[in-house]
Amino acid sequence: MRFLSRRLVMPIHLNSRGTLFGGQLLAWIDEEASVYAAIQSGTDLVLTKYISEMDFKSPAYNGEVVEIGMEVTGSTRVSVTLCCTVREARTKRNIVTIDRMVFIAIDEKGRPTRHALGPGSSEASQDHHDG
Ligand SMILES: CC(C)(COP(=O)(O)OP(=O)(O)OC[C@H]1O[C@@H](n2cnc3c(N)ncnc32)[C@H](O)[C@@H]1OP(=O)(O)O)[C@@H](O)C(=O)NCCC(=O)NCCS
Repeated sequence: MRFLSRRLVMPIHLNSRGTLFGGQLLAWIDEEASVYAAIQSGTDLVLTKYISEMDFKSPAYNGEVVEIGMEVTGSTRVSVTLCCTVREARTKRNIVTIDRMVFIAIDEKGRPTRHALGPGSSEASQDHHDG
């Protein structure tokens, strides 16, 4: 798993209990995952197709830094599947895990299109290291 993205938790990101708002975290994850899926699959455009359960392991607090980890776990002709772990940067405490996020490569007309990580490719189980 590669942790390429970090975010500082600030007051505007908190819920009414004073901890990181789950919807804010999901927005960060979705953005990071779509960029990662696009780079790994060598495509310009991907759409979020499916996100499995989010397991919130522990809260994140104001002033903490969270790092977002992604890993390619599979692919089909037009889809890329990732798993995700978010952890606190200093202590490595797990904040949330997502087993399965599916992204679909699309062409300029919004139709599913082929990408570079085809089924059976060694790259599907071994992340690229250029993005
Ligand atoms: C993404 C979208 C274009 C796909 O179109 P579609 O007609 O549903 O596509 P299909 O059902 O033919 O599926 C396309 C591919 O996705 C795969 N797929 C679909 N659902 C999947 C899932 N839950 N898990 C894994 N793969 C999945 C299919 O196997 C197929 O792959 P293949 O052709 O390589 O076998 C369409 O569903 C869509 O526009 N959804 C809304 C996306 C969106 O708005 N996201 C939020 C903002 S980014």
